Amino acid sequence: MAWSPSPSPFKDDIVKGKVALVTGGGSGIGLEISKQLGKHGASVVIMGRRNHVLDAAVSTLRSLSIPAIGFEGDVRKQEDAKRVVESTVKHFGRLDILVNAAAGNFLVSSEDLSSNGFRTVMDIDSVGTFTMCREALKYLKKGGPGRYSSGGGTIVNISATLHYTASWYQIHVSAAKAAVDAITRNLALEWGADYDIRVNGIAPGPIADTPGMGKLAPEEIDSKARDYMPLYKLGEKWDIAMAALYLASDAGKFINGTILVVDGGLWLSQPRHLPKEQVKQLSRTVEKRSRGESALVGVPKAKL
Ligand code: COA
Repeated sequence: MAWSPSPSPFKDDIVKGKVALVTGGGSGIGLEISKQLGKHGASVVIMGRRNHVLDAAVSTLRSLSIPAIGFEGDVRKQEDAKRVVESTVKHFGRLDILVNAAAGNFLVSSEDLSSNGFRTVMDIDSVGTFTMCREALKYLKKGGPGRYSSGGGTIVNISATLHYTASWYQIHVSAAKAAVDAITRNLALEWGADYDIRVNGIAPGPIADTPGMGKLAPEEIDSKARDYMPLYKLGEKWDIAMAALYLASDAGKFINGTILVVDGGLWLSQPRHLPKEQVKQLSRTVEKRSRGESALVGVPKAKL
């Protein structure tokens, strides 16, 4: 498997001695976050539904000299969440960093989406995130102090920017990710105050070479249709992993309840309604006209 294209700007010990549990850590963004946490000193547990995917990911992590193990489990099942969290602590002795990267997605128009389809994505993304946080709480409370920070461990929830505006054929995911952001802020408030646990989120834009992009912009979509999708700036999985490292390490020790948008500014983008040169001319013309008009105001009628 290809290694990340860019070197890390961080020192390689910024999460040394920490134990991280990454849901959805077997592939895509979750795997890259696992690699980068491991490369910067953490021991890593990945959780996922498919054993063969976990096995391949663990081999990759170990080939990079990262202490890693995979535990099969579905974040929708509370017993799985509990078992995996407990197995993490049993295996590595503690839990400091929880990354909720497991997610479900598919393109569907609202009228074609069944309630069960809607619920399925809510269950994976929103309820799954809450369940993992809830099961991890008693161990995160006891997370050891960092070099600079004190108190408990930290959580990073992966959401999206879909719900900042509205997104075609993504009503279920928009709702689910809005709930994830709400969970992030509420836990940051409650667990930050009570246990010194920092809870933050990352909202990735479209990231190349991920299962999500494979589903949302498959090859089958013709290029004209792709023009309508904001894909002109694809991020790399590495970009999300660096954000996760920043938030999970002591670099982010005063950051709590923030959802860091990592999309190159894409969610703000909208079609340019006028070319730049044209706007310059037009603006001056309008200014002149309005100055002329206002100059006329107050001029005695007789002089006109
Ligand atoms: N269009 C419309 N409805 C769909 C759908 C699609 N493409 N895919 C699934 N659904 C509906 C199903 O019809 C079902 O509803 P129903 O019972 O009313 O028919 C419901 O969603 C659950 O589907 P099911 O296949 O039983 O769920 P699952 O638990 O096996 O899989 C998914 C969950 C659907 C989210 C699946 O895509 C998945 O496992 N995703 C994880 C990987 C992923 O999406 N990665 C990208 C993250 S960004």
